Amino acid sequence: MNNQQPSQQLADIAIVGVGVMGSSLARNFARNGYRVALYDRRAENVSKLIAEHGGEGEFVGCNDLQELAVNLSKPRRALLMVPAGTATDAAIDDLVEAFDEGDIIIDGGNSLYTDTVRRERAVALTGRHFVGAGISGGEEGALTGPSIMPGGPQESWESIRPLLESIAAKVDGAPCVRYIGANGAGHFVKMVHNGIEYADMQLIGEAYHLLRHGAGLEPSRIAKIFREWNDGDLASYLIGITADILEASDPDTGAPMIDVIHDAAGQKGTGRWTAKEALDLGIPATAIGEAVFARALSSSTELRAAALDHFPTGNLADFAALGISVEEFIEHVRRALYASKLVAYAQGFDLIAAGSAEYNWNINPRDLAAVWRGGCIIQAAFLDRIDNAYEKLPELPSLLLDSYFTGELDGLIDSWRTVAASAIRLGLAAPVFSSSLSYYDSLCSKRLPAALVQAQRDYFGAHTYRRVDSDGVFHLDWTGDKSQEQKR
Ligand code: 6PG
Repeated sequence: MNNQQPSQQLADIAIVGVGVMGSSLARNFARNGYRVALYDRRAENVSKLIAEHGGEGEFVGCNDLQELAVNLSKPRRALLMVPAGTATDAAIDDLVEAFDEGDIIIDGGNSLYTDTVRRERAVALTGRHFVGAGISGGEEGALTGPSIMPGGPQESWESIRPLLESIAAKVDGAPCVRYIGANGAGHFVKMVHNGIEYADMQLIGEAYHLLRHGAGLEPSRIAKIFREWNDGDLASYLIGITADILEASDPDTGAPMIDVIHDAAGQKGTGRWTAKEALDLGIPATAIGEAVFARALSSSTELRAAALDHFPTGNLADFAALGISVEEFIEHVRRALYASKLVAYAQGFDLIAAGSAEYNWNINPRDLAAVWRGGCIIQAAFLDRIDNAYEKLPELPSLLLDSYFTGELDGLIDSWRTVAASAIRLGLAAPVFSSSLSYYDSLCSKRLPAALVQAQRDYFGAHTYRRVDSDGVFHLDWTGDKSQEQKR
């Protein structure tokens, strides 16, 4: 306990870590009438925020966490916006020390959900409360209204709810924040959000690639196409920013900006975490996995250069050989993008359902649709349709089986096949278009080659198989007398 006295009226919330995101969130709280205490190990970050934006609301700059604790109303609420990993652990330890029982520590970073589960347990043992909140929307979203996915104790949610609802994005007046579930649920959902983000970005990239290097359209023309698409089924944040990007010119050379950016995609790890989680939970999130691999492949620059030396891509089919007009092709690509995007979102929702079952989070898919409708990177008009789907049937086995989406897919499938086949003929890689279509075809197949895989497993390892016509588990003496034995 310390004996410092509050310098002024008590603050409603603290931001610890006043970097780009922390600073935007602090301003968002202040603009919404909350008094915000600020602490950063680099004191200049606090002074800079107050100097530049102090007029936007009430800020209380603090020199250390003791001063921060004294200046906060109870239960104290601190939102940590520090880099994920060891910095977060260190900041939590310091806050536990400075705070009292009942106070709430919220981690708003992109933390791995298993870390959040561990931290929640450890903090709970001290009598403090820990909330892991996924926050999406980047710098702009944090300032004007992010999408927020909090997980942790229900009673902490009740305490922070009015504040988070105030700063969150609003769609039709509804805030894009909902309580997701206990301990790591919020960060799990944010992780999968990012996995879907990877798939959606890659799909948009593939659509651009086909229009540019297949149909031979200029970036400015493709920008207009994306703008038009943004008025229809594909309306989304990512389609909108893509149009902006394709309109931009390089300030140095005047060339299209897209042509001067090195084509090697970076990643901080959240997409990879999602793909690993899908593997662990046995959920075929193929679109997300392919998108992660596509980034890795793009960044294998030496390997790509060596391969290009050996296999120069001069012998590809000409676009004219496809026998499709440019206008027709544009519409085929739009439909293929819509269909593949549906698969990516459906797989993300499946993964969350599996995580929810595994960790007893009881996550309501309608809450995800509500939270992702605005503020976040994957916000898209069709999330309303996704909400309708789960409203009709909460136990829907896959979004693709909702009657609205089955109807949509019926109208998209021919174009989807045309685009995947065209990409192959043109020699243009479109891994998420292709794998999403394969996912759909696998789901809808009467028979899969898995029967042969089972036979092979039984052949070389006596791993047994099930029969289509009777119960039980069997082994065949493949190399001997070909007799069949029932094992169970
Ligand atoms: C968001 C974003 C944000 C960021 C990710 C992805 O929701 O605001 O997802 O969290 O873009 O960290 O970053 P990488 O592409 O570098 O993995």
